[in-house]
Amino acid sequence: MASEKTAAGKVTVPEIMAMKKRGEKIACLTAYDYLMATLLDRAGVDLILVGDSVGMVVAGYKTTIPVTMDAIIYHTQAVARGIRRALLVTDMPFLSFQVSIEKTVENAGRCLKEGGAEAVKLEGGAPMAETIRRLVDLGIPVMGHLGLTPQSINKFGGYRLRAKDKDEAKQLLTDAKILQEAGVFSIVLEKVPAALAKKVTENVQVPTIGIGAGPDCDGQILVTHDMLGLFEEFKPKFVRRYVELGKAMRSAFEQYVADVKESKFPSLQESY
Ligand code: KIV
Repeated sequence: MASEKTAAGKVTVPEIMAMKKRGEKIACLTAYDYLMATLLDRAGVDLILVGDSVGMVVAGYKTTIPVTMDAIIYHTQAVARGIRRALLVTDMPFLSFQVSIEKTVENAGRCLKEGGAEAVKLEGGAPMAETIRRLVDLGIPVMGHLGLTPQSINKFGGYRLRAKDKDEAKQLLTDAKILQEAGVFSIVLEKVPAALAKKVTENVQVPTIGIGAGPDCDGQILVTHDMLGLFEEFKPKFVRRYVELGKAMRSAFEQYVADVKESKFPSLQESY
């Protein structure tokens, strides 16, 4: 009997690739827990990423660098329990895919075997090609990530727009073609000029998923906590807040505190 995971309508890696061919936009968001995954999945999100942004959004680190394999597996397991339809992709943490190909295979394998992911994402261009080829050969689908790659924050020195100058833009386009040739099923383009993202999108067959990369990518992704107005420490220009949940939650908490202090909660109707 088919499980819910294999039920008709389940988004697969080939389906994500077919969406580009059909000209159908791909809606992606991040999740780190069961409840959020359930809400995103039932809302029709096509691809859910357990991003290493979990380190900043959930754990309170200043960067994504400290995120561990064990942490990403824990969050992937929770998200996997909430998904019926969306494709589940896990972000490979810093240094989980750079040390050696053997170590990378082990770590990516853990994302699928222990976490329940259906693909992994890893940051980087040409230097990652051999690793990507190996993973794909072994049946581990890979999503690429170019432009602003937050794990390189110490090299970049900040979260500025990438590939603004001609040389970096040319390199990014070359990297995208190399990643495609290595076998990625899609490429995240983060914080790059919209015109460059359009050019990349037109020059590769695999879908591009933009975040701060303009409207012409084949799909879009945002950090869910950003678009919900929950992560309020900073708001990049490319984030659209669809709701101000942070404000709503603060006001609910303040009301609760006041109600408890003034003995207005619980009422008799809320008591046994
Ligand atoms: O970690 C993350 O959430 C990401 C997305 C922003 C693409 O890499």
